[in-house]
Amino acid sequence: MKKRKVFLGFFILLLFLLCACGRVSGPEEDRLIRVGFSQLGSESDWRAANTKSMTAALSEQNGFELLFDNAKQKQENQLLAIRNFIQEEVDYIVLAPIMESGWEDVLQEAKEAEIPVILVDRQISAEDEELYSCWVGSDFRAEGDMAVQWLEEELVRSGKAGEPLRILHIRGTDGATAQIGRTAALESAVRRHPEWEIAGVLPGEYTEAKSYELVRDFLKTDRDIDVIYSENDNMCFGAMRALEEAGLSYGTDGQIMLISFDAAQHALQLCLEGKINACMECNPLHGPRVADLIRQMERGEQPEKQNFVKETLFRADTLTEDILQKREY
Ligand code: AHR
Repeated sequence: MKKRKVFLGFFILLLFLLCACGRVSGPEEDRLIRVGFSQLGSESDWRAANTKSMTAALSEQNGFELLFDNAKQKQENQLLAIRNFIQEEVDYIVLAPIMESGWEDVLQEAKEAEIPVILVDRQISAEDEELYSCWVGSDFRAEGDMAVQWLEEELVRSGKAGEPLRILHIRGTDGATAQIGRTAALESAVRRHPEWEIAGVLPGEYTEAKSYELVRDFLKTDRDIDVIYSENDNMCFGAMRALEEAGLSYGTDGQIMLISFDAAQHALQLCLEGKINACMECNPLHGPRVADLIRQMERGEQPEKQNFVKETLFRADTLTEDILQKREY
């Protein structure tokens, strides 16, 4: 009888210790899934919406314990964050890579630690596909192709097809999948249209401030622009400010057509007002998608390796207040 009491006491103590350490709060399925998320930065409206979606979906309420790191636009910070997640023995690592190259070593370390890695938004260029479990994000090349197709159709509609066209190209961060895809689409279109010319390529790094400075300086020596192809909304806002200061008009009633990518709320409002001619959607709401991929893996399922999100193009002439109201970001 005494032995049984001692054993019971020991068992209760063990249970108490397990609960107190926080990892186990009841049955195994109630355990929080520990996720380390390396976000590349906070350069744009898109990124803010993406961070919000990720942190909301990977919340305690939803069964996750999230370790969040903002790399402030530096790959070396992302490498540090991932190594820290490995040290912390998280259950999953989620990586939004700033660029495609340079991930082999750190992801090999995650693989050796048997921590599955989920890529979100941009992709990586590593040859070994086993370095990550799956990816979810946009088809950036398709986005670029849709934007360029809109331009081709718009030129036909306005009777300007076949006429010389000078395009100012504001690029995103070099080597990022979003930049590679959108740039490739434009370059391919320029090869198809000998009458189109790239007037300049500006490395805007996806930020409004950088784009403003570059466009402002560019316009000091070249004002003969027909189109600005801006690889995100924030760089488009920077360009708009520089155009206004230079006394150049833009949008549906102006001299310069503006094409932007992301289609976040503020840009769509400007599109509705006719200030941006076309906004190509890039959907940032990946939080629930990543949470779903993790749940699939928790059930022992292997999700699709590549998970593309469907997107659409918004045009100033067909966008309505009603469409804008229904948008989530
Ligand atoms: O990778 C997605 C791109 O990154 C978005 O177009 C841009 O706004 C963001 O910074």
